[in-house]
Amino acid sequence: MRRKAIGFAVLGIFVAAAGYVMWAIKSHGFSAREEPSRIEAWLARHARRIATPADAKSLKNPVHTTDEDLPPVRHHFVEHCSSCHGLDGSGNTVFGRNMYPKVPDLRDRETQKLSDGELYYIISNGVRFTGMPAFGGEDSPEELWKLVTFIRRLPNLSPEELKEMERIAVSAQTEGSVGEKAAGHTHGPGTQPPKH
Ligand code: HEC
Repeated sequence: MRRKAIGFAVLGIFVAAAGYVMWAIKSHGFSAREEPSRIEAWLARHARRIATPADAKSLKNPVHTTDEDLPPVRHHFVEHCSSCHGLDGSGNTVFGRNMYPKVPDLRDRETQKLSDGELYYIISNGVRFTGMPAFGGEDSPEELWKLVTFIRRLPNLSPEELKEMERIAVSAQTEGSVGEKAAGHTHGPGTQPPKH
């Protein structure tokens, strides 16, 4: 009996959410130029939470990243993440500002309160329908865990670190794939990555 009631409640929530999405599409179309409503943002976050397997959420970061290990990690973030997330993680970039949903500020509590396992899962698998790519087929698990460590540092990046990242961004723009090589990525842009 209780199971049935829970089943109906879940179905009810599902139908209401589907109805809401249909209504939102009908009244706002598919334009990416609007801000998601609070309900939409809440639904999307919770759907993502529910869809993340519990054992993935509870994974602990197995890679110890020291200060000496950080330069290539900063490089990696500049190369693969900063076009959307910005060098400082604020998301204040041409892409970040104009995506739907907007790219979140990775320094904010909403991101920082996610577990290491959740961050890893998001970076590895991406987030469907949002533009957040899956990096699991591109980067090794060790590289991804180091990015998790780096995301934890974003709220306290020093001006020197930011300067260094700006330098990397400028040299990557002028030198093309050279930046990828320096980050330990020997495949040029647009080519097949080696299997890690
Ligand atoms: C093409 C644009 C793009 C690139 C490149 C990109 N992201 Fe994202 N990222 C997004 C978007 C859009 C979201 C919001 C997803 C959502 O709403 O669930 C996001 C979300 C995230 C989140 C979850 C934050 C939260 O609070 O929900 C993390 C963590 C993240 N990205 C890390 C990275 C890292 C690390 C890289 C580089 C390896 C990267 N992203 C590259 C667009 C991008």
